[in-house]
Amino acid sequence: MVLKISGRGQVPPFLVMDVLRAASEREIQGDHVLHMEIGQPSLGVPKGVAEAVARELESGDPMGYTLAQGLPALCRRIAAHTRKTYGVDVPMEHVFCTMGSSSAFLMAFLTAFAPGDRVGLAAPGYPAYRHILKAVGVEAVLLPVGADSRFQPTPEMIDSLRPGLDGLIVASPSNPTGSMLPPEALRELAEYCHDNGIRLISDEIYHGITYGMTAATATAFSSSAVVINSFSKYYCMTGWRLGWMVLPEDMIRAVECLAQNLFISPPTISQIAAVRVFDHLDELDAVVKGYACNRDILVHGLADIGIDRVAPPDGAFYVYADISHLGLDSRELCHRMLNETGIAVAPGWDFDPVDGGRSVRFSYSGSTATVVTAIERLRDWLPRLRV
Ligand SMILES: Cc1ncc(COP(=O)(O)O)c(C=O)c1O
Repeated sequence: MVLKISGRGQVPPFLVMDVLRAASEREIQGDHVLHMEIGQPSLGVPKGVAEAVARELESGDPMGYTLAQGLPALCRRIAAHTRKTYGVDVPMEHVFCTMGSSSAFLMAFLTAFAPGDRVGLAAPGYPAYRHILKAVGVEAVLLPVGADSRFQPTPEMIDSLRPGLDGLIVASPSNPTGSMLPPEALRELAEYCHDNGIRLISDEIYHGITYGMTAATATAFSSSAVVINSFSKYYCMTGWRLGWMVLPEDMIRAVECLAQNLFISPPTISQIAAVRVFDHLDELDAVVKGYACNRDILVHGLADIGIDRVAPPDGAFYVYADISHLGLDSRELCHRMLNETGIAVAPGWDFDPVDGGRSVRFSYSGSTATVVTAIERLRDWLPRLRV
């Protein structure tokens, strides 16, 4: 008997993970692969955090569940960090710790949107937004963005939509483009959304990894916005699976009930580590200096070999480059690049289901040697690329 499978679970794959698998297969065959497909810090937590965690483990603490909201000490630290970084007072009751930002999206979408609602997001953008929205029966409305709006949505783009939107997701810095919304532009969007009954979800996961432009938080401009953040990027705690939300008043209890039922609580050991990580921001800032160096080498190196149409890399650790002049679709180009040069990069199709064939995303979160070697290999390969 053939059993029923729900369409809700039928979401497209995350292509970056498919590239990672192909790259790993090449490594097993002995190839030296340059990993520029995956966006994660290559360094771990600061030593002081690892030592504190080791002490905690040795203490015999049973590591039981925490409150669904997270450890009060962590919520307090996050509220203090928000005050210090953005000058915004957030009561700790509004901070909600989650299993990475990924689970925060699920809870925020379930709480804020009903099946059939319409939520706008930039294309190109992070693919999981679309896929999680689909899984919960919400329509993702793509907002094609380009250089004219710094690859970010604007109130004008939303204003012209019929029917209108119930929600809007923004990410600044964005994945895959790295481009940011200047604070005034975020304020305009946040106020527009609030005034028009559109729930703004602001993904601030790449805050801390910026190269000169100020990252503003949506909480500063709107009492109805949901802020989502994570310890995965700036804090170098990707595998610890911990993130947080700053919630508007009307969503706190619903998110708490959902979290109690879906996850019970975020990982306790990760929360203990996260309380400590705020004592080591100097070390994390030094890591960001390394990204800044990689970024300069990559952007200049690519321009030098003719890949000079890139989104403004204001933050995060990505360069989103137009490769349409090379004459290959991005999926084919990524496949050939991996096989012929050993460089793994992500095809634009992951981020943009309409125009993704024209672009690829380079991640420069790895070592400087990786970036330098990649440019050398591309310089040698591109003139020989036959289409
Ligand atoms: C823009 C963006 N948001 C959210 C995530 C998910 O991160 P996590 O679940 O590790 O917090 C990622 C991961 O790459 C991302 O790029």
